[in-house]
Order: sequence, then C-alpha cells, then structure tokens
Amino acid sequence: MAKIAVLGYGTVGSGVVDVIHMNGSAINKRAGEEISIKYVLDLREFPGTPAENLIIHDFEQIVSDEEVDVVVEVMGGIEPAHTFVKRSLEAGKSVVTSNKALVAKWGSELLAVAEANNVNFLFEASVGGGIPIIRSLNHALTADEIEEITGILNGTTNYMMTKMFYEGADYEEVLKEAQEHGYAERNPEADVEGYDACRKIAILSSIISGRYVDFEDIYTEGITKVTSTDMKYAKKLGMTIKLLASVKRDQDKLGAIVAPCLLSASHPLYSIDSVFNAVFVRGNALGDAMFYGSGAGKLPTASAVAADIVDAVKNADKNVMASWTTPKLTLEDRADTEKKFFVRMSGDLDEWLPKVEKAFGEVTTAAPDDVTGEFGFVTGKIKEGFYEEKAAGFPNILQMLRVEE
Ligand code: HSE
Repeated sequence: MAKIAVLGYGTVGSGVVDVIHMNGSAINKRAGEEISIKYVLDLREFPGTPAENLIIHDFEQIVSDEEVDVVVEVMGGIEPAHTFVKRSLEAGKSVVTSNKALVAKWGSELLAVAEANNVNFLFEASVGGGIPIIRSLNHALTADEIEEITGILNGTTNYMMTKMFYEGADYEEVLKEAQEHGYAERNPEADVEGYDACRKIAILSSIISGRYVDFEDIYTEGITKVTSTDMKYAKKLGMTIKLLASVKRDQDKLGAIVAPCLLSASHPLYSIDSVFNAVFVRGNALGDAMFYGSGAGKLPTASAVAADIVDAVKNADKNVMASWTTPKLTLEDRADTEKKFFVRMSGDLDEWLPKVEKAFGEVTTAAPDDVTGEFGFVTGKIKEGFYEEKAAGFPNILQMLRVEE
C-alpha cells in the first residue's frame, strides 16, 4: 500500500481527496497498489468532510513518518511550500504539486534534489490544469525538437477577452463579471497582468530547452489596456484578441513573451473561448498539435494531480522527470524577434498613410464604421526593435498590439 499526505485542503486539495475516493479502484489498478491518504495538513479543521479524520496541523509528523511515500503540495504560494517540498524530497518522498509559482521559481533546485534522492518531483497540474501538457512534452514528444509553444494559459483572462469579443463589453465591465463568477480574484493582478501565464510559459520553456528559463526574463504585458475599440478593429480585420503566452525557436535561440495579441481566424487558438485553456505545439517531426481542456477548477486540476500520484507510486525507485539545468538560459532579445504589429493612430488615414508606409513599409489598414478621429493598420513582419524605433516618431499612436497568424 502506498501512503500519501496532502498539504492543503483548499479547492485543489479537497478535489484530490474527492478524485481518489471517486476513482479509487481504477487509480489503484493503474498504480499497481492501493493508494491511501494518511494525512491532510491544514491549519483548519474540516468536520463532516472526507478529510475529517485525516487532518493534522504539524508538517513534522509527515516528514518524519517513513510510511508516507508521496507528499502532495497543493497549498500554493512560495513559503512554506518550498521548505515543505524540499524537506519531503530530502526525506526520500516523491512530491506532486500544482503550484506554478513554486515550480517557476524553484523547479531547477527541486528537480535536482529529487534526482539526488532517487525520487520524483512532478507538477503536471501547474500548467494548463487538467490538460496533460507536461507529460506530453516530457514523454510523448520527447523525440521532437519543439519549435514553438503558444498557449492560452489563463482561463480568467480568456473568459474576459471572450466576453469583450462577443458582447462588445469594456475591460472594467468584464472584470467585474469575472469576479462575480469567482474566476478573477478580488485582487486580479496575477491574472490580468499576465504574471500567471508568464510562470506557466516559463515552466514549458524550461522543459523544452532542458535549461532553466527564469520567468523574470520573460517580457510580460497583461490585458488591462485592451479596450472595446481594439476589439472592433480586430473584428474588422477578421481577428480576435487573446492573451497569448508563447515560446518560439529562432535558429539557436528561444524567444518568449506574454502579451495580448490579435489572432487571425485561421489560427487553431482562435476558437478557444471562455475559461478554457489550449496549448498549440509545433514540433520539427510532429508538425502541429493542439491540447485543449479545463485549465483550472477543482476536479480537472485534481485529475492531473492524481495522475502524478499514480506515476510517483509506479516509479517509486526511479527518477522519471527530465530535469532542466542551470545556469539559466539567455532568451532572445525581444528587439530581434519578428512579427506583425497592429497600431491605432489618431488623425486622418489619407493624411497619415504616406508617412506610416514610409516608416513601417506596406501596411493593411482598417477603419471600423463607428470609430472616428483615428485609424488602424497592420504592418508586415518586422523586428520589434525596428518597430519601436519607428514608432517613436509617431506621438499620435494610441495603441499597439502584436499579431499572431
Ligand atoms: N487563475 C488561473 C486561471 C488559475 O485563471 O487560469 C489556474 O492556474
């Protein structure tokens, strides 16, 4: 029998306990032995719940208990999660976590500690919730050179962008709705500023490169400046706007960015609506693939955690995760990355177009019927550094969004 301890009885922790009870016999069969929850660590008591008789309040009881094989960290945050995870690995216990902040910051160290102790540090649920993207990159796609990953990795902002697209609503209005539905937190910063998506793409970038990618090196723009007028232009151009997190290979360098982008209708991510997440992957042998599903929520996230628990139990004496090495990878300078840019300018199109094309080259213009006093255009593919240099000469620029085709 394999015994596990769950750290944190919040949304994900209670989901893990529920999934293990709900699908117990199938999970045990796949793990090759019975999985039993010995402890649930939380500061609170939970009378009348399945965790009622499992709750303890002292981590020392878990780390010193030789019967505990797998520790499941679903508390979130950096401390005490980091200390608890590291000590568990050092004590010879595998650890499963859903904590993207922890993996993005301490992943290299914790993978190395796991390897040194011949146990596993698994974190499928940290990116894309229930979508099996990490396992796929580590195992199924391990023979490919991954050239690109572009993802809608944050459900809250995708819900907001979807509402803005279909209802023509403004940012503040959709944020309020997202908060009322419980998607966005009272302090929505981590989602709307792109920090959550940034940590997730940093984790995926580290996996595909085998080198630590520091989330702090990834240029990150959130959705707070996206307006209903931008959405009108996007529609006029046959596009939508999504918060995209991407990493792309450019010869021997990787470039990563999180930003709201105009997305053309032919892109596989165009139709990913509401709180759903999706990850587009391009491999040099595989070609294009898409992973789609629930990126958050109690049971989808718990499903990914439970799958990692099964993997940890099945591979009790061997390290199965590919690790990533330090020092950290130097990402491609954003100024050298090439893309198309959507720009809104105040003024008269006919008057400005010659100057615009002299600076940026040939552009495609757009003018939604009910927008006056301004115009919009999309450049051809140019380097971001070139765009910035030329844009500095136009004080009438109202907005710039990158374009993904
Ligand atoms: N706040 C995150 C989201 C939760 O909206 O996608 C899952 O990481």
